[in-house]
Amino acid sequence: MNSRLFIGLVAIGILAVGLMMVGCEGPEGPQGAQGPAGPPGEGPGDGPVYLGNSAQSCGHCHAAITDGWETTHHSEALASLTGDNATNPYCLQCHTTGFDDRFDHDGNLLTQGEDQDGYDDNPRDAVKNVQCEACHGPMGPALTHEPEMYSGRTGEMCSYCHSSEWDEYITAGHGTVLQTAWNPEGEAHEEFITEWGRSACWNCHVSEGFLMTYAESWQGRTFPEDAWQVTCITCHDPHESQNDAQLRQLALGDATLAYGGPDAPDAYPVTDWGKGQLCAQCHHARPNAASITGQINNGNQRPGPHYSPQADMIAGRGSWQIEGMTYDGYGELKHSTSLLPNMCVDCHVVRRDFGDPLGPIYGHSFEPQLSKCQTCHSGAANFDIGGVQTEVANLLEQLGSMLPQLDGQVRPTWDTLNWTRAEREAGYAYLFVTKDGSSGIHNPDYARSLLTNAINHLSEAMAREKQTGVEG
Ligand code: HEC
Ligand code: HEC
Ligand code: HEC
Ligand code: HEC
Ligand code: HEC
Ligand code: HEC
Ligand code: HEC
Ligand code: HEC
Ligand code: HEC
Repeated sequence: MNSRLFIGLVAIGILAVGLMMVGCEGPEGPQGAQGPAGPPGEGPGDGPVYLGNSAQSCGHCHAAITDGWETTHHSEALASLTGDNATNPYCLQCHTTGFDDRFDHDGNLLTQGEDQDGYDDNPRDAVKNVQCEACHGPMGPALTHEPEMYSGRTGEMCSYCHSSEWDEYITAGHGTVLQTAWNPEGEAHEEFITEWGRSACWNCHVSEGFLMTYAESWQGRTFPEDAWQVTCITCHDPHESQNDAQLRQLALGDATLAYGGPDAPDAYPVTDWGKGQLCAQCHHARPNAASITGQINNGNQRPGPHYSPQADMIAGRGSWQIEGMTYDGYGELKHSTSLLPNMCVDCHVVRRDFGDPLGPIYGHSFEPQLSKCQTCHSGAANFDIGGVQTEVANLLEQLGSMLPQLDGQVRPTWDTLNWTRAEREAGYAYLFVTKDGSSGIHNPDYARSLLTNAINHLSEAMAREKQTGVEG
């Protein structure tokens, strides 16, 4: 017997006892506690049906979760439908529980769902709103405790109702890592787990890895083998609404840059970027002071700050700084927190029109939006505001051409044979600005300064070498 099945049986045992003790089934019949008793011999067949009435049928045993859920918009979704819309099947399919008939905008039936006593089959109070079983699946008639977890953890189940957010998410950065998405046993998933299901990586690359640090209910759990890419529930707590859009509470806490620069070598806390704290938890550089110094002194097979130094760049911190040189923008934000109180989120998660009758909603491609820039930089035609991106791209090209080459590219690994120390010092700036990925927008002054200082440093070293014949 595998251990999962064993735990399952124990849980069912506990449940049976629990149910007898709390007596939360309510009257006989398929609808559970608050539903009317179903006439004998009729009703939705042998399969699972919706119990509904989460607060009672689940709340006995999951009180904390139920209390949290009651504060979310899911628990009062039906009240958003007013007038004729309160009976419009098109609207009801997403604002109630178990409504699996599909209707188009004009109220035409597209596909017929199963008869599981959802709101379409039996519009009763118990299955109003987006209840526990809307996400966990039908668990009646007598509470069979086999909640559906997987589709919720991948976000697939959210897509059923949140189609606009999903369509963007699943075609952009966070959603495209697992190319064979709906085949969790497939090869892509195996490679994903092998590469990123390691404790050194899972915090930032794997949803459950992140939750083990940033979600209270996940702390102390072991890493599951069916873990998934960054998805809806990585950022949104399905059961709590302490923050706008149910953003995870702990994830909005302090984010620590591993190396803060010469005046904060032992780490630098980012604390006041509002919802941008969430992004900064993962999008920061990885090496600490010792590891950067090690790279500069001894070379490295995987040099640079990792792919993710965006938070560091915005804070104007965290790159290697060459002794004796001054760095503009060091420790300074170009866009202050009074201009952009949610920093990353203000530029990257912006309300846009998806043709939703309710008006614009937050896009989930996580790409920055020009429309946002234009609210302040009126007339901006692209992100190259003030020519910053062109200038940074030119500087990068110039610096790149001065660094050791392999097949017409900057050599990807640093050794002490092909790379001088001065080249490694300059090379760090090259990688830091490249990997940031914004071509200077995240901090124009720091980016420019890192690159020009690196170019000058290399030029001086070359001039010295010419004079003395000794490597700089
Ligand atoms: C009689 C007590 C009891 C009732 C009622 C109850 N549960 Fe549970 N539930 C448990 C126990 C015990 C566990 C296993 C321990 C845990 O994960 O908290 C559990 C686990 C779960 C899990 C996690 C399963 C997993 O694979 O990790 C979900 C989801 C869940 N319950 C949902 C519900 C929903 C939805 C309802 C209402 C329809 C409900 N429960 C009603 C006791 C109960
Ligand atoms: C059965 C349909 C349905 C499912 C499934 C569903 N939602 Fe929702 N969700 C809604 C509706 C409807 C609302 C708006 C409620 C209202 O009327 O205020 C909503 C609201 C939200 C909000 C709050 C937005 C705000 O402005 O506060 C978040 C966040 C959210 N859902 C996330 C999720 C996530 C994450 C999942 C999957 C784990 C999910 N939802 C699954 C229908 C659904
Ligand atoms: C495909 C699923 C779906 C359908 C169909 C749907 N909604 Fe929604 N509705 C949602 C989701 C999801 C949200 C939460 C949106 C968000 O915050 O991005 C929502 C939010 C809302 C809100 C805003 C609630 C708030 O608190 O801000 C209203 C009002 C609303 N819907 C009314 C309607 C009406 C009226 C219809 C029918 C004409 C309808 N919905 C059809 C899924 C749906
Ligand atoms: C919007 C979808 C959604 C709704 C509504 C929802 N859940 Fe969940 N639930 C999830 C997802 C996704 C997970 C797995 C991720 C996690 O733990 O955050 C989960 C995890 C759980 C777990 C196991 C992990 C834990 O936190 O202990 C339990 C138990 C649970 N839910 C019970 C409930 C109960 C009870 C309700 C209703 C009061 C409910 N859920 C409503 C989506 C939902
Ligand atoms: C501090 C958080 C963090 C940690 C820890 C981390 N990464 Fe990353 N990594 C990121 C982020 C964020 C990106 C995406 C950056 C971007 O695209 O701009 C990324 C991108 C990557 C990429 C390139 C993009 C891709 O999807 O192929 C690779 C490869 C990678 N990481 C490997 C690893 C490995 C291997 C580990 C563990 C040894 C690891 N990372 C640990 C945050 C992290
Ligand atoms: C990387 C983190 C992240 C991921 C992944 C993510 N979201 Fe969001 N989501 C956000 C942020 C940030 C906001 C904006 C919150 C705000 O400013 O109020 C948001 C907003 C929302 C809203 C509120 C929209 C509105 O217009 O009021 C809903 C609903 C939502 N997300 C659902 C989803 C769903 C469904 C998924 C999965 C397809 C998802 N999110 C994936 C971070 C994320
Ligand atoms: C749990 C860690 C995590 C969080 C939180 C997170 N990201 Fe990411 N992000 C990643 C990783 C890892 C990648 C690389 C793709 C992947 O492996 O999922 C990535 C990719 C991206 C990309 C695409 C980069 C490219 O090279 O195409 C953008 C843009 C992005 N993230 C922005 C954001 C924003 C904005 C936020 C905050 C709302 C955020 N991310 C929150 C981990 C995270
Ligand atoms: C002033 C607005 C602004 C802020 C604030 C901002 N970004 Fe950006 N970001 C941009 C622009 C503009 C680009 C470049 C996009 C382009 O050239 O296509 C970019 C590029 C990126 C990229 C590379 C995208 C890709 O497709 O390769 C990532 C990842 C990213 N930002 C993440 C973040 C994170 C994480 C934060 C917060 C720590 C943040 N950004 C804050 C505007 C912003
Ligand atoms: C809330 C208003 C606001 C938004 C939104 C905004 N900016 Fe800015 N931006 C400013 C202000 C004010 C400055 C001048 C700050 C300073 O130099 O002290 C500035 C400066 C800049 C600079 C430096 C210009 C130079 O010549 O050095 C660039 C580049 C820039 N912004 C790009 C962007 C991009 C790209 C976006 C959108 C992704 C954006 N900004 C969104 C207000 C904004």
